Amino acid sequence: MTSSNPATVYRLDYTASSFLADRIDLVFDLAPSVTQVRATTELHRNPDSENRDIVLYGEELELVRIAMNGKVLAKPDYATDNGELRIPDAPDKVTLVIDTLLHPDQNTSLMGLYLSNGNFFTQCEAEGFRKITYFPDRPDVMATYTVTLRADREKYPVLLSNGNLVEEGDLPNGRHYAKWEDPFKKPSYLFALVAGNLVCREETFRLADGRDVLLQVWVEKNNLDKTAHAMESLKHSIRWDERRFGLELDLDRFMIVAVSDFNMGAMENKGLNIFNTRYVLANPRIATDLDYANIESVVGHEYFHNWTGNRVTCRDWFQLSLKEGLTVFRDQEFSADRTGSESGRAVKRIEDVRTLRQLQFPEDAGPMAHPVRPDSYQEINNFYTVTVYEKGAEVVRMYQTLLGRDGFRKGMDLYFKRHDGQAVTCTDFLAAMADANGRDLSQFERWYSQAGTPRVKLQSHYDEKNRTLTLILSQSCPQTPGQTEKQPFLIPVAIGLLDSHGKDMPLRMEGDKAAPNSRTLELSEESQTFTFIDVAEKPVVSALRNFSAPVILEYEQSDDELLHLLSHDSDHFNRWEAGQRLALRRLLSLTKAVQADRTLTLDSAFIDAFRAVLTDTALDPALRELALTLPGEMMIAEKTDEIDPAATHRARQFMRRTLAENLEKEWLNAWQENRTEGAYRPTPQDAGKRALKNLALSYLLLLDKPAYGRMAIDQYHTADNMSDRLAALTSLVHSGWTDKLPEAKALPDHFYREYENEALVIDKWFSLQATSPNADTATVRKLMKHPAFTLKNPNRARSLIFGFCHNNMAQFHAADGSGYTFWSENLIELDRINPQVAARLARCMDQWKRYIPSLRKPAEQALRNVSEQSLSRDTREIIGKTLS
Ligand code: PHE
Ligand code: ZN
Repeated sequence: MTSSNPATVYRLDYTASSFLADRIDLVFDLAPSVTQVRATTELHRNPDSENRDIVLYGEELELVRIAMNGKVLAKPDYATDNGELRIPDAPDKVTLVIDTLLHPDQNTSLMGLYLSNGNFFTQCEAEGFRKITYFPDRPDVMATYTVTLRADREKYPVLLSNGNLVEEGDLPNGRHYAKWEDPFKKPSYLFALVAGNLVCREETFRLADGRDVLLQVWVEKNNLDKTAHAMESLKHSIRWDERRFGLELDLDRFMIVAVSDFNMGAMENKGLNIFNTRYVLANPRIATDLDYANIESVVGHEYFHNWTGNRVTCRDWFQLSLKEGLTVFRDQEFSADRTGSESGRAVKRIEDVRTLRQLQFPEDAGPMAHPVRPDSYQEINNFYTVTVYEKGAEVVRMYQTLLGRDGFRKGMDLYFKRHDGQAVTCTDFLAAMADANGRDLSQFERWYSQAGTPRVKLQSHYDEKNRTLTLILSQSCPQTPGQTEKQPFLIPVAIGLLDSHGKDMPLRMEGDKAAPNSRTLELSEESQTFTFIDVAEKPVVSALRNFSAPVILEYEQSDDELLHLLSHDSDHFNRWEAGQRLALRRLLSLTKAVQADRTLTLDSAFIDAFRAVLTDTALDPALRELALTLPGEMMIAEKTDEIDPAATHRARQFMRRTLAENLEKEWLNAWQENRTEGAYRPTPQDAGKRALKNLALSYLLLLDKPAYGRMAIDQYHTADNMSDRLAALTSLVHSGWTDKLPEAKALPDHFYREYENEALVIDKWFSLQATSPNADTATVRKLMKHPAFTLKNPNRARSLIFGFCHNNMAQFHAADGSGYTFWSENLIELDRINPQVAARLARCMDQWKRYIPSLRKPAEQALRNVSEQSLSRDTREIIGKTLS
C-alpha cells in the first residue's frame, strides 16, 4: 500500500538481465497455511550486461535460506531492498538454492500461489512468479523447469504442472508427489501448478503430423458434465492453427483447468492453461449462446498463445501487444472461420468493432490513453487494456489488409523462422512482415508508438462531364497524455462505390488494367487525392469497408445515401454501419431535445428503414439483430461535448419505445418466426435466430400490454436453454414487468433457487439486476447483503459492482452523486482485497472531466476521497492519472 505516487518504469530504460537462468528445479510442499518452496536455479553471467550483480525479484516472501554454489549466504553477501534480492559481484556460473515460505490461505490478490475452493492454483503473469520464489522474474529470462509437488493425497489427489509427468508416487504420512518436466524453455510468467480434488474429461487426439496427444479439461467433480464444449473448442483450435498457419502442438499433453477465483479470463501457461470457470463450463441449462461463443474464442486464444506468446515471447512488458494483439487477431479469425459463412464473418467483425468502439475509443480519448506499445507504466497489471489487446489486434489485422492473406502468412512464417525460442519486440514482428514481403513498413511503426484514435476525413466530388470521382482523404490525430504532436499514420482505407440500383461499380484509376469492385487505398500523408475514371454515374461511396482501420471516419453523407447503403451495400459491415449512423444522428439530436425540454419525435423515414431491415427475411437473423440494436449509451455519450447520461438514456429509451410502438406487428412476427427447431444447438444460425427473437421480445415488453409480459413469462418457463430463459427474465426485470405483473414478481426468486448451486448463473442473476434501469444504489446495496454475495470472488464482484458502475449508466450517474459514493466505498474495500480487480473498477471514472458540470463536482469529490486513502500501486496509478 502506498500513499505517494509509485515509481514509473520506462520502456527506453530497458537493459538486459545481468544473469540468465538455464534451469530451475522447484519443489513445493503444499499446505494451505504454510507452503515450503525450494528453488534450485542455475544461472550464468549474461555477456550482454555490464552489471556484475545477480538481481532477483521477490515479493511478500518469507526467506528461510539462500545458498550459492553450496555455501549458505548471510547479509551482506546479499542485500534485499524494495522487492529485489541482490548478490554483489557474483561468479560467472552459480547454482542458487533458495528456500521460501508462502501463505496461500492469506493470499486474496489471486497472484502467485493461492487457494480457490480449497484447491491450489498459481497465476504468474505478469509478475506473480516473484511471489513464489526469488528469481529474475522478467520475460527475457527463459529457463527449463522441473517441478515436484508434494501434498496430502486425500485432499489433493491431483498434482499438475507444465509439460510432461515424469514420476509420481506415495510419501509417508498420507502424502504423495508428482514430478513434471517442461522440455521447452520459458519465461517465469508461464509457470503454473494446480493441486486439488479435481476430475477431468480426456481424449487422445491425432495431430496433422500423425502424433497422438492427450487433451484434458480439469474441473471440480460437479462440473464434469459442462466440459464437452471446451474440449470440442480445443480440438477445433488445434486443427485451425495447423491449417491456417501451419502451427502444430509441440507437447504430448495439453491441459485446461477451470478455477472459480480468477482475476482475468484465462492464462496460457505452457501446456497447463488455467481458465476462469466462465470460459470453460457450459451446457444448455447454464450457458447462453454468448457463453458458448466466448468459450470457443478464449480456448482458441489461450491455445494460440502456445506459438504467439510462448514459443516466441516478449522481451519486456512494454511489448505485451506483440503476443496479445497478435493472439486476439488470431482468435478473431478463428471464430470468424468457424462460422462457416460470409455473413457469419461479418457478424463477428461487427461484434469486434463494437467492442473496440465502446471500450477502446473512450480509453484512447481519456486519461489512461497509451500507445499499443506503452512507453511507461507504474503497474504493468494496469496495461492489460483494450488498447493493447483490441487495438493491438486491429494493428495486426492491418498488416493482413495491406499485404493480403498470403503476404501475412509469409510474414508469420518468417517471424517464427527468425525468432522461435526468443524474447522479442513489436519491431521484430514488423520487420518480419516487411522483409517477407519486400516492403518498407517503417511508417507503420507509428501504430505502435502513437496513442489516440486517428480521424480520417473524406470528401468526394463527382465530375459528370468527365465521369471521374475524386476522393480527398486527410488524417489527423488528437493529443493524448504526453503526446502533443502526431505524425501521419499509414492507413488502409477500403472503398467501394454503389450505383443507383445498389450494385457495386468498378473502381478504375488511370493506367489500371483491372477494375475491382472494392479496393484498399493507402493513406500515408496528411492529405491525399485519389481519382477514379470511367465512373458511369454519381455513386454512393462505401468507405472504410469491413472497418479496414481503427479510425474515426468523418464523411458527410445524407440520410438518403445512408439508407441506400443500409439496403444495398455488398459489404455487410457497412450496411450495419449505415444503420448505426442513421440511428446515432437521431439519438444525438434527441439527447439535445431532452436537455432543452423539447418534445421528442422520430421521423417515419427512419422507422421505415428499421421496418425494412426487420422484415428482410433474406438477411441473416444475426445481422438483422445487430442492425436493429441501437448504439449503446456510452457510444452516444462519447459523441456529445458534455456527457449527460440521464439525457442520453432518456433519448435512447424514447427511440426504443417509438420503434416498439410503430413496429409492434413486425416485432411480434419476428418473435414468432425465429423459434429454433429441435434440441438446443449453439450454432451461429440458431444463436442468431434466438438473438433476433429475444431482441423482438425486449422491444415488445416496452409496450404497456400485459399480454407481452405473459408471453415472456411463458418463454421463461418453457425455455429449454439459458439464452431464452435469461433473455426473458432480463427483459421482464429491465422493463419493470416484475413490479407490475403479479405472475412475474416471483421470477427472480424462482431463478435464484433453480440455479443456487451454479455460481456462473448466480453471477448472471446479480448482473441482470444491477444493470436494470430501475436499479439504484439502494437496490444494489441490498443485493450486496445477499448471502451469495462476496467481494472476494472477482466474478461475483464484477457481476454486481461492475455491472452497476460500468453498465448502468443512467443510475450510476444519478444526479445526487450516490452512484459515485457507492463506487468509492467499494473501490476502497476491494483494493484491500484484490488490487488488480480494484484498479479496473477505478476505471469507471475515466471520463469524469467530460461530465456535465453538476456531475463533475460529486465525481471529483469521490475521486479525492479515494485518493486520500492508502492505496495499492495498481489503484494509485489509475486514480492519479484520472485526477491529473
Ligand atoms: N495472458 C492472458 C491472456 O490474454 C491474460 C492474463 C493476464 C491472465 C494476466 C492473467 C493475468 O490470454
Ligand atoms: Zn492473451
